[in-house]
Amino acid sequence: MKAAILIGGRGTRLRPFTLEAPKPLLPVLNRPFLEYQFQVLRRHGVREVVLCVSYRAEAFHRVFGSGRRLGLRLSYARETLPLGTGGALKNAERLLRGGPCLVLNGDVLNAFDLGVFRRFHRARRAEISIALTRVKDPTLYGLVLTDETGRVRRFLEKPSWDEVESNAVNAGAYLFEPSVFAHIPAGKPYSLERGLFPERLAAGARLGGWVAPGYWIDIGTVEKYLQVHLDILEGRTPFAPGAGARPLRGADGARAVAGPGARVAPFARFSGAVSLGSGVRVGRGAQLSDCVVLDGAVLGDGARLERCVVGPRARVGTHAALGPGTALAGGSRVGDYSQL
Ligand code: GTP
Repeated sequence: MKAAILIGGRGTRLRPFTLEAPKPLLPVLNRPFLEYQFQVLRRHGVREVVLCVSYRAEAFHRVFGSGRRLGLRLSYARETLPLGTGGALKNAERLLRGGPCLVLNGDVLNAFDLGVFRRFHRARRAEISIALTRVKDPTLYGLVLTDETGRVRRFLEKPSWDEVESNAVNAGAYLFEPSVFAHIPAGKPYSLERGLFPERLAAGARLGGWVAPGYWIDIGTVEKYLQVHLDILEGRTPFAPGAGARPLRGADGARAVAGPGARVAPFARFSGAVSLGSGVRVGRGAQLSDCVVLDGAVLGDGARLERCVVGPRARVGTHAALGPGTALAGGSRVGDYSQL
C-alpha cells in the first residue's frame, strides 16, 4: 500500500518555530518530527510514500531526498500554490495509483495499527475510512459521529460544548479507495475535512470511522510541540529519542537528553523532562524543568526555564527566567535578569 503525507501547511499556530523550518521538519529529540511517522509506516510494511509539499518544499527534499537512508521510496507532489488538504491529494493522484492508499496529516503522531485499520476499512466496504482518536476537549477538533457499526453519521467542525455528543475526533489518518479521487476538484484549493468528507457523506457514500487506540498527538501548537517531547521522554509513547540524543548524566531524577556537543556547566539542575539540542550550552546553576532547548541555544548562569521552548541559537541572559508557555524565537536575545 502507498501512503501520502500532507505536509504543505504553513504551521502558523506553531510560530515562531515554523518560520525557520516547516512543522513536520521541526526537531523532536534530535530527529525531524516526520521521522517518527515514517517509523510507523515502515513497521507496517509501507515503503512507497508520496510527500505532498508546498510551503518550504525544497527543505523536505534536502532533509529526506529519495528516502533511501530511511528505508523508504519517497516521491514529491509539489503545489505551486497551497491547495488545501484535498487539493494537495488530488495533485498527487498520479503517484498514488494502484489500489487503496493511506493518507496522513504530517503534523500528527499516532502509533495506530495499520493492519487493523485496513481490516476495518475492508469489512465496512467503505469508500473512505477515517481514524478517530478520543480527546479531552473535542471543541478544538473536528468531531466525527458514528453509529454502532462504525459508519460515519455526522461531522461537526470545532463544535460548541452543547453540541458535543462524543469525544472521538478526526485523527488525521485516512484510507481512501481510488474511486474517491474522481470527487476531488483538480487545481483549486479544496479541503478534505470541510469539503470532501461532508460532501461524500451527503451523497450517501459509505464512510467509516475507526477509533484508533493508543498514543496520538497533533503538534499544531507550541504547547503540543513541547508535550510530544515530554511524552516520549516520560515513556508515554512507543517512540524513542533520535540516535543523536543521549541521556544526560548527572540530571538526578529528571529525564534529560542532550544532542551532540551540548555542554552543561556545574550546578545546573534539571527536573521533569528536558531536551537539549546539539551544541546547546547551559550555564552554571541554571535550572530547567520540562522544557525544550533547540540547537545552538545558550542559557546564561542561573537562568531558570519552566515549561517553555527556546528556539535555535537563542541567548538567554544570566539569571533570566522563562515561565510556562514561553516560545523564544530562534536567534533572539533575552537580557540578564529578564522575566518572561
Ligand atoms: P496552521 O497554519 O497552524 O493551522 O497549520 P497547518 O495549515 O500547517 O496545518 P493544519 O492542521 O491546518 O493541516 C493539517 C495537515 O495538512 C498539516 O500536516 C499540513 O502541513 C497539511 N496541509 C494543510 N494545508 C495544506 C496544503 O495546502 N497543501 C499541503 N500539501 N498540505 C497542507
